[in-house]
Amino acid sequence: MAKRCSLRGKSTMGQSILLGVSGGIAAYKSVDLVRRLRENNHTVRVIMTSAAQSFVTPLTFQAISGHPVGCDLLDAASEAAMDHISLARFADQIIIAPASADVIARLAQGMANDLLTAVCLATTAPIAIVPAMNHRMWHNPLTQANVARLQQFGYAVWGPDEGAQACGEYGLGRMLEPDAIVKHIENKNSVTPIHSKTIVITAGPTREPLDPVRFISNRSSGKMGYALAAAAAHSGAKVILISGPTALAPPKNVEFISIETAAQMYEAVMQQIPHCDIFIGAAAVADFRPTAVAPQKSSKNDFSNTLALTANPDIIHAVAQFKPKPLTIGFAAETHDVKLHAMRKWVDKGLDAIIANQVGLAEGGFDSDVNSVDLYSANGATHFPQQSKTELAYRLIGWISNYYDKQTKDSIKNIG
Ligand code: PMT
Repeated sequence: MAKRCSLRGKSTMGQSILLGVSGGIAAYKSVDLVRRLRENNHTVRVIMTSAAQSFVTPLTFQAISGHPVGCDLLDAASEAAMDHISLARFADQIIIAPASADVIARLAQGMANDLLTAVCLATTAPIAIVPAMNHRMWHNPLTQANVARLQQFGYAVWGPDEGAQACGEYGLGRMLEPDAIVKHIENKNSVTPIHSKTIVITAGPTREPLDPVRFISNRSSGKMGYALAAAAAHSGAKVILISGPTALAPPKNVEFISIETAAQMYEAVMQQIPHCDIFIGAAAVADFRPTAVAPQKSSKNDFSNTLALTANPDIIHAVAQFKPKPLTIGFAAETHDVKLHAMRKWVDKGLDAIIANQVGLAEGGFDSDVNSVDLYSANGATHFPQQSKTELAYRLIGWISNYYDKQTKDSIKNIG
């Protein structure tokens, strides 16, 4: 559970931090990093690669973190203590410091050939790498391509610093000092305008039954909405995620309401709106449902050539009619004329902003790990290039948080 504490005048949340230590002389600095993180109220668990153990012993990290250190993916004893999936779930944030050229390359390939890389593949937590290597290794185009690939998939890259290197040369490749790494973490966790605000997010598809075994639905996986819920919760908001059926586990620290049909989503949303500051409609709500639902499985002879449909309630439009209404942000999923259709929905549904994404392509939109969107509001248009849905969600929540802050300040000015 997150605990609050005060650090040098700044309010921060105690988090569950998983520190990955890979092979490099800078590994000794990570011992001090663990100490400082614990001083700042974070719970820290450490995973070491086998190369890291040539520089610092697991016992040192165990003593300083207060927890056993994970070293081996295939070790029955450490899997029994906390298996790699539990470690992946434990983390609010993963930091790899030092991140060697080797571990960066393996992560960029999606490999899972040791405990650290397996946990990184299995987690939904944000991951930051803190590179440390010889400056020529850092500038090597292969390393740079690997780093760019990780950034594309949502990894943050902190550093490296320039300076004298352990090999006696000078250049870019020194690991950031523990103080600078702690600052990155605390800046990420510092109080945001949406801290303690209530955000209702819809996600996933709805299912509209024809009979007890058949339904009409769509390709939404829920990944975009769940990523938004995780990012908003991580930013300190109270998040209520109302979701249609998906294969995803609800994010940590989020109140989860599971529904199946558009009518159920409408009911669930309407109950929450009176206590809500911000509403984000990322769900792909079916616009229509079969007019009649057969009580028993229909035989194929029961179906005529036409299917009678009834319009579902427009949930986000109803949210935008509330007085006072929450900041209301919709998505528009379009296969063509994306901007035109999105702008029309923005106006017709009475939204504060609309996030337009193109669907129907091989990558992005429905059931993809990446997405690129254009956000339209009274402030104009903002383009968010293709990136992982996790990273995009953080950027969108950052934008929404700033917009909310500005609106609140403007309305106070108007009252004054
Ligand atoms: O779930 P993923 O696989 O990660 O895919 C993400 C996504 C493509 C589903 C997501 O990014 C997205 O675009 N969600 C909205 C999909 C959609 O149904 O868009 P729309 O253009 O049909 O609807 C416009 C807005 O009205 C949306 O905010 C929608 O939630 C809302 N709506 C629509 C119909 C309805 N009856 N009630 C609504 O509230």
